[in-house]
Amino acid sequence: MHLLIMTGMIMIMGKTAAQSHCDPITQYEKAGQCCRMCSPGTSMSAQSTCLEPQCTECGEKEYQDKYNSERQCHRQPYCDPNKNFQSSTQESKKKRTTCLCELGFHCSSEACLTCVPHTACTPGHWAQSTGNHTHDTVCQKCPEGSFSTSNSWNSVCTKWTE
Ligand SMILES: *[C@@H]1O[C@H](CO)[C@@H](O)[C@H](O)[C@H]1NC(C)=O
Repeated sequence: MHLLIMTGMIMIMGKTAAQSHCDPITQYEKAGQCCRMCSPGTSMSAQSTCLEPQCTECGEKEYQDKYNSERQCHRQPYCDPNKNFQSSTQESKKKRTTCLCELGFHCSSEACLTCVPHTACTPGHWAQSTGNHTHDTVCQKCPEGSFSTSNSWNSVCTKWTE
């Protein structure tokens, strides 16, 4: 048992020591040598050598957000209008697209797999905090002397005229 832990520690320490002379962001190690990675927005093709990587630009709807030695770029997420996402327009090959909810909708969970409609404030209530991409609308009773007849996520109260 003791011996196993010791062996594990030596292996971890050995690995860290070997990697420490390469730049952790732009280089990778191969056979004790520091090799160049491809820059964000590209992936590495098979003909690459350690010091002369052949980098291929990511295709449409693809991205690579880091320096990498991967053979392929990642697919951008699809912002599905059927799940109430806005269709993404400005996509970068260097960044994963974040799908945004349509106006009037917010993420159903932290992972935001789908967007759900904001709560509608019933008549007599107003949207004290208007919903956005991540938060639902918070409704409040209209203050004394005001009213609201609408049933919506962004309703306001109107003062009674005297
Ligand atoms: C969304 O609304 C919440 C609650 O009002 C607020 O804390 C948050 O900053 C808002 N987010 C954006 C992106 O406006």
